Amino acid sequence: MKKVIKNGIIVTATDTYHADVFIENGVISQIGENLSIDGAEAIDAKGCYLFPGGIDPHTHLEMPFGGTVTKDDFETGTIAAAFGGTTTIIDFCMTNKGEPLKGAIETWHEKSKGKAVIDYGFHLMIGEMNDSVLNELPSVIGDEGITSFKVFMAYKNVLQADDETLFQTLIAAKNLGALVMVHAENGDVIDYLTKKALTEGNTDPIYHALTRPPEIEGEATGRAATFTGLANSQLYVVHVSCADAARKIAEARNSGIDIWGETCPQYLVLDQTYLEKPNFEGAKYVWSPPLREKWNQEVLWNALKTGQLQAVGSDQCSFDFIGQKDLGKDDFSKIPNGGPIIEDRVSILFSEGVKKGRVTLNQFVDIISTKAAKLFGLYPKKGTIAVGVDADIVIFDPSVERTISAETHHMAVDYNAFEGMKVTGEPVSVLSRGEFVIRDKKFVGKLGAGQYLKRAKYGENQQNNENKTLVI
Ligand code: URP
Ligand code: ZN
Ligand code: ZN
Ligand code: ZN
Repeated sequence: MKKVIKNGIIVTATDTYHADVFIENGVISQIGENLSIDGAEAIDAKGCYLFPGGIDPHTHLEMPFGGTVTKDDFETGTIAAAFGGTTTIIDFCMTNKGEPLKGAIETWHEKSKGKAVIDYGFHLMIGEMNDSVLNELPSVIGDEGITSFKVFMAYKNVLQADDETLFQTLIAAKNLGALVMVHAENGDVIDYLTKKALTEGNTDPIYHALTRPPEIEGEATGRAATFTGLANSQLYVVHVSCADAARKIAEARNSGIDIWGETCPQYLVLDQTYLEKPNFEGAKYVWSPPLREKWNQEVLWNALKTGQLQAVGSDQCSFDFIGQKDLGKDDFSKIPNGGPIIEDRVSILFSEGVKKGRVTLNQFVDIISTKAAKLFGLYPKKGTIAVGVDADIVIFDPSVERTISAETHHMAVDYNAFEGMKVTGEPVSVLSRGEFVIRDKKFVGKLGAGQYLKRAKYGENQQNNENKTLVI
């Protein structure tokens, strides 16, 4: 079915202009003023922006973690993402040491197939490096189109990889054309501080933050950056939470290292005091890295504005307050780490970022969509509005005011981390490859309509090296 979106304002990472968008066979076929309807269904977007669909490069759907499994799966998670203006996610395929990578990837295909309502790809976790892993990587890239590898520097005895593994992964990624991603916190120091806190009887959620100080996020970020320079490789640091880590990325970029940084909405608008909420409510805000002192927020916003951080992922990793977070009622280290963020990522960036003058409208599009498309091998098919690209489009009303709440959200969890927060702007309708997933704020998509995306190698068909800014 042909469609033409009339009267909207198109916003890309570089341009803002009035034009109609003609869609045929899931692809944008024409952009221009006063396009003839020509047998297409006309959709009126008066007063609305047309953004390229959001790309969330950091989700954990149906992931086993902390003795339980995340509440949102590829069905509820992608429906919530679509309501929030996201049309592509890249989820982390988790692996187990000693087991073939192929099996883990199959497990992730099974979790997602028939469920996802928007398009999706996978990153692959690397927990160890040896001949068997090395032998599988060419097929991971060539056959599966998985061109990004994730290494955890924290979660000792669970997910944590050692420095040798990180360094070898960086070298392999350089040779094969993949982007390495790191969770940068010093897991050994955290392990020591956690044991010490518990021995001293400090079991409340706030000790999650106090045992993971910003210095050790900065240290791990700097270490990973050093390895990247040494390996002449490429690195994307996920969920940067604090000034210490943002500064390390800025320094490394300034010295010519190919390093990119992502932050998340939670670090931009929430702070460490949330972990002190009474009646164990602080557990709702336990994720890693932890929330920081409030002053860090302005540093992160400025880093986005000046291009020292380039992307915002959700780190969606949701657990119910009742029945999951309470596994750590008497021991903060047993609270499953993670929060429900996938639905509110775009709205928070628009409302707190664009509306409050912290980033421009075009920077906002870059941060929530275009940059991730470029870094993760999806551009230009995803991440922009142009002739010939997938018609993944958000019709966004910038004037609506609403309050975020678990009562109205679409995630499967029993709380919302941004409960009560007032935001301006809301996705009204969302199209994935030309089909409505959300229409007039109602879900009209189909389970399983989301396609698995094989991604291009790092640096192919992309302009990755623009926007390298200097630290002043
Ligand atoms: O606490 C978090 N962030 N949970 C998800 C796993 C990770 O570290 O990204
Ligand atoms: Zn016009
Ligand atoms: Zn992480
Ligand atoms: Zn994560």
